[in-house]
Amino acid sequence: MSKQRVLSGVQPTGNLHLGNYLGAIRNWVEIQSQYDNYFCVVDLHAITVPHNPATLAADTYTIAALYLACGIDLNYSSIFVQSHVCAHSELAWLLNCITPLNWLQDMIQFKEKAVKQGENVSAGLLDYPVLMAADILLYEPDKVPVGEDQKQHLELTRDIAARLNHQFGSPEVPVLKLPNPLIRKEGARVMSLTDGTRKMSKSDPAEGSRINLLDSPDEIAKKIKRCKTDPVRGLTFDDPNRPECNNLLTLYTLLSGKTKEAVAAECQDMGWGQFKPLLAEVAVEALKPIQQKYKDVMDERGYLESVLREGRQKAEAHANETLRKVKAALGYSMPV
Ligand code: TYM
Repeated sequence: MSKQRVLSGVQPTGNLHLGNYLGAIRNWVEIQSQYDNYFCVVDLHAITVPHNPATLAADTYTIAALYLACGIDLNYSSIFVQSHVCAHSELAWLLNCITPLNWLQDMIQFKEKAVKQGENVSAGLLDYPVLMAADILLYEPDKVPVGEDQKQHLELTRDIAARLNHQFGSPEVPVLKLPNPLIRKEGARVMSLTDGTRKMSKSDPAEGSRINLLDSPDEIAKKIKRCKTDPVRGLTFDDPNRPECNNLLTLYTLLSGKTKEAVAAECQDMGWGQFKPLLAEVAVEALKPIQQKYKDVMDERGYLESVLREGRQKAEAHANETLRKVKAALGYSMPV
């Protein structure tokens, strides 16, 4: 029996942070041997907010190199760049024409980002989830491993696919396959270091709110030293009045590989002065091998390019076949 398929992606906007790693990439690595995997750097999404053309290509390579550095294994997975496979944009257009406008206006991320953009909101920002649906549906994945913040976009993807199937397919022969989100409870929502009620985010102007995968040991220690805490002694999980405490203990648990129970017991009598250096140490240790591997990959630009070329070839074959099916269902025909 052939393996089930996985697809996921990250935007090349700035560096990757611990939220991206613990909410998404670490999970890709853990499950990859059981699936046939496509991991995409979604660079077309990166221009839905103002971007810098001088750094877009370099940022895209950085993310692809970080995929490898975090442990994506080419024996199980393909890595490719979204803009290298034209089918993404073309399917997005076709899906646009069957997606009701009010579905997009209801998206939480659109509302949040639109507020930040003021009058500069592009049609692309509103349309972003349709492009994301195209990214996914082209590869007919069974599972899409993401963090909690992408759940609504996955639901929309399923709704768009079901609508297209209903309008242009038949119950016996659906045109598109409905994917399932894969959201692991642990790490699904890593919170900001400066406000435990907001998620860690690339777009937060406060650099101290996130730990990036490529931060130096010094930067990591400084950010943890300055991060927001509370005046209570004794550290506990799951207290709704102590969001920072829960977040920092969760980070410690995931980065140290200890169980939640072991961490709860270890930290129950600790003060912040004792805990913060411990957290800094496990964060530095967890990121050290990733940073070393990243450096090795970046030193071999030719290798990285060959990975992306091969990834593109495999992705393109699958994507073009799905696109052909959708176009046929919508009534398009092309001489062979
Ligand atoms: P992006 O680039 O914002 O984030 C990439 C992945 O990281 C997860 N994530 C988090 N997880 C836990 N805690 C956090 N604080 C945190 N911040 C981010 C995200 O849930 C995501 O899994 N729209 C997507 C990119 C995308 C995509 C796709 C994903 C485009 N097409 C197709 C999957 C499949 C996004 O902006 O992710």
